[in-house]
Amino acid sequence: MKNPFIVFEGIDGSGKSTQCDMLYRYIADKGIGVKKLAEPTSGRWGTELRAMLKSSAPPPVELQIDMFIKDRIDDCEKNIIPCIESGTTVVMDRYFYSNAAYQGFSGITPAEIIDRNIREGFPLPHRVYFIDIPAETAMERILKRSGSGNTELFEKREFLETVRSNFLSIADERFLIVNGEGDVESIFKKIRDDYERICG
Ligand code: ADP
Ligand code: TYD
Repeated sequence: MKNPFIVFEGIDGSGKSTQCDMLYRYIADKGIGVKKLAEPTSGRWGTELRAMLKSSAPPPVELQIDMFIKDRIDDCEKNIIPCIESGTTVVMDRYFYSNAAYQGFSGITPAEIIDRNIREGFPLPHRVYFIDIPAETAMERILKRSGSGNTELFEKREFLETVRSNFLSIADERFLIVNGEGDVESIFKKIRDDYERICG
Protein backbone atom coordinates (compact mmCIF):
# COMPACT_ATOMS: atom_id res chain seq x y z
CA MET A 1 0.00 0.00 0.00
CA LYS A 2 1.60 3.26 -1.14
CA ASN A 3 -0.80 6.00 -0.10
CA PRO A 4 -3.08 4.85 2.70
CA PHE A 5 -6.11 6.65 4.10
CA ILE A 6 -5.41 6.77 7.85
CA VAL A 7 -7.75 7.84 10.66
CA PHE A 8 -7.02 8.65 14.31
CA GLU A 9 -9.77 8.13 16.85
CA GLY A 10 -10.04 8.39 20.61
CA ILE A 11 -11.95 10.12 23.36
CA ASP A 12 -11.32 13.84 23.97
CA GLY A 13 -7.93 14.26 25.65
CA SER A 14 -6.65 10.83 24.54
CA GLY A 15 -3.67 12.37 22.73
CA LYS A 16 -4.91 11.51 19.23
CA SER A 17 -4.26 14.99 17.76
CA THR A 18 -0.68 14.86 19.08
CA GLN A 19 -0.12 11.45 17.43
CA CYS A 20 -1.89 12.52 14.22
CA ASP A 21 0.44 15.54 13.90
CA MET A 22 3.49 13.34 14.56
CA LEU A 23 2.54 10.83 11.85
CA TYR A 24 1.74 13.63 9.42
CA ARG A 25 5.19 15.19 9.97
CA TYR A 26 6.91 11.80 9.75
CA ILE A 27 5.31 11.06 6.36
CA ALA A 28 5.86 14.61 5.02
CA ASP A 29 9.56 14.44 6.03
CA LYS A 30 9.97 11.40 3.79
CA GLY A 31 8.91 13.59 0.86
CA ILE A 32 5.62 11.70 0.43
CA GLY A 33 2.51 13.70 -0.58
CA VAL A 34 0.30 13.78 2.54
CA LYS A 35 -2.69 15.84 3.67
CA LYS A 36 -3.84 16.32 7.25
CA LEU A 37 -7.61 16.61 7.69
CA ALA A 38 -9.94 16.83 10.69
CA GLU A 39 -13.62 16.55 11.53
CA PRO A 40 -15.56 18.56 12.51
CA THR A 41 -14.16 20.62 9.60
CA SER A 42 -13.70 24.37 9.40
CA GLY A 43 -16.48 24.55 6.77
CA ARG A 44 -20.10 25.67 7.16
CA TRP A 45 -21.39 22.61 9.04
CA GLY A 46 -18.23 22.19 11.06
CA THR A 47 -18.51 25.80 12.25
CA GLU A 48 -22.11 25.19 13.37
CA LEU A 49 -21.01 22.01 15.11
CA ARG A 50 -18.25 23.80 17.02
CA ALA A 51 -20.83 26.34 18.24
CA MET A 52 -23.09 23.43 19.24
CA LEU A 53 -20.25 21.88 21.27
CA LYS A 54 -19.93 25.09 23.28
CA SER A 55 -23.67 25.38 24.01
CA SER A 56 -25.28 24.07 27.18
CA ALA A 57 -28.44 22.91 25.36
CA PRO A 58 -27.42 20.54 22.56
CA PRO A 59 -29.93 19.55 19.85
CA PRO A 60 -31.43 16.01 19.88
CA VAL A 61 -29.00 13.26 18.98
CA GLU A 62 -30.72 12.61 15.58
CA LEU A 63 -30.06 16.19 14.57
CA GLN A 64 -26.45 15.96 15.77
CA ILE A 65 -25.97 12.88 13.56
CA ASP A 66 -27.43 14.74 10.55
CA MET A 67 -25.13 17.73 11.12
CA PHE A 68 -21.98 15.61 11.44
CA ILE A 69 -22.96 13.70 8.29
CA LYS A 70 -23.54 16.93 6.32
CA ASP A 71 -20.09 18.10 7.42
CA ARG A 72 -18.65 14.75 6.32
CA ILE A 73 -20.35 14.93 2.88
CA ASP A 74 -18.63 18.31 2.33
CA ASP A 75 -15.30 16.96 3.62
CA CYS A 76 -15.49 13.97 1.28
CA GLU A 77 -16.35 16.05 -1.78
CA LYS A 78 -13.83 18.82 -1.15
CA ASN A 79 -10.95 17.00 0.54
CA ILE A 80 -10.99 13.25 1.10
CA ILE A 81 -12.00 11.97 -2.36
CA PRO A 82 -9.75 14.43 -4.31
CA CYS A 83 -6.79 13.31 -2.13
CA ILE A 84 -7.51 9.61 -2.65
CA GLU A 85 -7.93 10.14 -6.42
CA SER A 86 -4.65 12.04 -6.70
CA GLY A 87 -2.71 9.39 -4.75
CA THR A 88 -2.13 11.58 -1.69
CA THR A 89 -1.81 9.94 1.72
CA VAL A 90 -4.56 11.15 4.09
CA VAL A 91 -4.01 11.42 7.85
CA MET A 92 -7.24 12.32 9.56
CA ASP A 93 -8.14 13.46 13.09
CA ARG A 94 -11.62 11.84 13.64
CA TYR A 95 -14.02 10.38 11.07
CA PHE A 96 -17.35 8.53 11.17
CA TYR A 97 -16.26 6.23 14.02
CA SER A 98 -16.56 9.34 16.25
CA ASN A 99 -20.13 9.74 15.00
CA ALA A 100 -20.91 6.20 16.18
CA ALA A 101 -19.12 6.54 19.52
CA TYR A 102 -20.38 10.03 20.51
CA GLN A 103 -23.93 9.87 19.11
CA GLY A 104 -24.55 6.13 19.75
CA PHE A 105 -27.02 6.75 22.59
CA SER A 106 -30.72 7.42 23.13
CA GLY A 107 -32.06 4.48 21.15
CA ILE A 108 -29.50 4.57 18.31
CA THR A 109 -26.67 2.08 18.55
CA PRO A 110 -23.07 2.74 17.43
CA ALA A 111 -23.44 -0.08 14.85
CA GLU A 112 -26.54 1.58 13.34
CA ILE A 113 -24.63 4.86 12.96
CA ILE A 114 -21.73 3.05 11.26
CA ASP A 115 -24.24 1.47 8.82
CA ARG A 116 -25.73 4.86 8.09
CA ASN A 117 -22.30 6.32 7.29
CA ILE A 118 -21.45 3.37 5.06
CA ARG A 119 -24.75 3.81 3.19
CA GLU A 120 -23.70 7.43 2.53
CA GLY A 121 -20.80 5.93 0.54
CA PHE A 122 -17.99 7.52 2.58
CA PRO A 123 -14.64 5.90 1.71
CA LEU A 124 -13.37 3.35 4.24
CA PRO A 125 -9.95 4.04 5.75
CA HIS A 126 -7.14 1.47 5.47
CA ARG A 127 -6.17 1.91 9.10
CA VAL A 128 -7.76 3.40 12.25
CA TYR A 129 -5.40 4.16 15.15
CA PHE A 130 -7.56 4.14 18.26
CA ILE A 131 -5.66 5.84 21.09
CA ASP A 132 -7.11 4.17 24.15
CA ILE A 133 -7.04 5.74 27.62
CA PRO A 134 -9.39 5.69 30.63
CA ALA A 135 -11.76 8.68 30.84
CA GLU A 136 -10.18 9.70 34.12
CA THR A 137 -6.73 10.21 32.56
CA ALA A 138 -8.34 12.03 29.62
CA MET A 139 -10.18 14.41 31.97
CA GLU A 140 -6.94 15.19 33.84
CA ARG A 141 -5.30 16.13 30.53
CA ILE A 142 -8.31 18.17 29.35
CA LEU A 143 -8.42 20.18 32.58
CA LYS A 144 -4.68 20.76 32.43
CA ARG A 145 -4.97 21.86 28.78
CA SER A 146 -7.88 24.26 29.36
CA GLY A 147 -6.37 25.57 32.58
CA SER A 148 -9.71 27.05 33.61
CA GLY A 149 -12.02 24.11 34.25
CA ASN A 150 -14.09 25.20 31.20
CA THR A 151 -14.93 22.04 29.30
CA GLU A 152 -16.93 21.37 26.14
CA LEU A 153 -20.20 19.51 25.88
CA PHE A 154 -18.75 16.00 25.63
CA GLU A 155 -15.85 16.53 28.04
CA LYS A 156 -17.37 14.79 31.09
CA ARG A 157 -15.86 11.70 32.72
CA GLU A 158 -18.90 9.36 32.77
CA PHE A 159 -19.84 10.34 29.24
CA LEU A 160 -16.30 9.75 27.94
CA GLU A 161 -16.19 6.32 29.60
CA THR A 162 -19.30 5.33 27.60
CA VAL A 163 -17.82 6.82 24.44
CA ARG A 164 -14.70 4.73 25.02
CA SER A 165 -16.73 1.51 25.27
CA ASN A 166 -18.72 2.52 22.19
CA PHE A 167 -15.43 2.85 20.28
CA LEU A 168 -14.28 -0.56 21.49
CA SER A 169 -17.62 -2.10 20.45
CA ILE A 170 -17.16 -1.00 16.80
CA ALA A 171 -13.45 -1.82 16.50
CA ASP A 172 -12.98 -4.05 13.44
CA GLU A 173 -9.96 -5.39 11.53
CA ARG A 174 -9.09 -1.86 10.38
CA PHE A 175 -8.41 -0.80 13.98
CA LEU A 176 -5.10 -0.85 15.81
CA ILE A 177 -5.84 -0.22 19.48
CA VAL A 178 -2.88 1.66 20.97
CA ASN A 179 -2.52 2.15 24.72
CA GLY A 180 -2.39 5.96 25.09
CA GLU A 181 -1.12 6.03 28.67
CA GLY A 182 2.59 5.81 27.87
CA ASP A 183 4.89 8.65 26.86
CA VAL A 184 4.30 10.39 23.54
CA GLU A 185 7.39 8.90 21.84
CA SER A 186 6.75 5.26 22.77
CA ILE A 187 3.11 5.54 21.61
CA PHE A 188 4.31 7.05 18.35
CA LYS A 189 6.83 4.24 17.83
CA LYS A 190 3.99 1.68 17.74
CA ILE A 191 2.09 3.76 15.19
CA ARG A 192 5.17 4.40 13.04
CA ASP A 193 6.10 0.69 13.04
CA ASP A 194 2.57 -0.22 11.95
CA TYR A 195 2.57 2.48 9.25
CA GLU A 196 5.89 1.15 7.89
CA ARG A 197 4.51 -2.40 7.88
CA ILE A 198 1.42 -1.30 5.93
CA CYS A 199 3.45 0.74 3.43
CA GLY A 200 6.56 -1.40 3.25
P1 ADP B 1 -7.00 14.89 21.77
O1 ADP B 1 -6.79 15.36 20.37
O2 ADP B 1 -7.25 13.43 21.84
O3 ADP B 1 -8.02 15.70 22.52
P2 ADP B 1 -4.39 16.01 22.40
O4 ADP B 1 -3.40 15.41 21.47
O5 ADP B 1 -4.85 17.43 22.14
O6 ADP B 1 -5.65 15.04 22.57
O7 ADP B 1 -3.77 15.89 23.88
C1 ADP B 1 -4.49 16.34 25.01
C2 ADP B 1 -3.48 16.95 26.03
O8 ADP B 1 -2.67 15.89 26.56
C3 ADP B 1 -2.52 17.96 25.40
O9 ADP B 1 -2.24 18.98 26.35
C4 ADP B 1 -1.27 17.12 25.09
O10 ADP B 1 -0.10 17.90 25.13
C5 ADP B 1 -1.29 16.08 26.22
N1 ADP B 1 -0.77 14.76 25.82
C6 ADP B 1 -0.85 14.18 24.60
N2 ADP B 1 -0.29 12.95 24.61
C7 ADP B 1 0.13 12.72 25.87
C8 ADP B 1 0.80 11.63 26.54
N3 ADP B 1 1.13 10.50 25.89
N4 ADP B 1 1.07 11.76 27.86
C9 ADP B 1 0.74 12.89 28.53
N5 ADP B 1 0.12 13.96 27.97
C10 ADP B 1 -0.18 13.89 26.66
P1 TYD C 1 -12.12 17.49 18.40
O1 TYD C 1 -11.91 18.90 17.95
O2 TYD C 1 -11.35 16.41 17.71
O3 TYD C 1 -11.89 17.45 19.96
P2 TYD C 1 -10.66 16.96 20.81
O4 TYD C 1 -9.40 17.38 20.12
O5 TYD C 1 -10.87 17.62 22.13
O6 TYD C 1 -10.78 15.48 20.89
O7 TYD C 1 -13.65 17.09 18.26
C1 TYD C 1 -14.65 17.92 18.76
C2 TYD C 1 -15.77 17.10 19.32
O8 TYD C 1 -16.61 16.60 18.27
C3 TYD C 1 -15.36 15.89 20.16
O9 TYD C 1 -15.92 16.05 21.47
C4 TYD C 1 -16.03 14.72 19.47
C5 TYD C 1 -17.13 15.35 18.66
N1 TYD C 1 -17.58 14.58 17.46
C6 TYD C 1 -18.81 13.96 17.50
O10 TYD C 1 -19.52 14.01 18.53
N2 TYD C 1 -19.25 13.27 16.38
C7 TYD C 1 -18.52 13.22 15.23
O11 TYD C 1 -18.97 12.61 14.22
C8 TYD C 1 -17.24 13.88 15.21
C9 TYD C 1 -16.39 13.86 13.95
C10 TYD C 1 -16.80 14.56 16.35
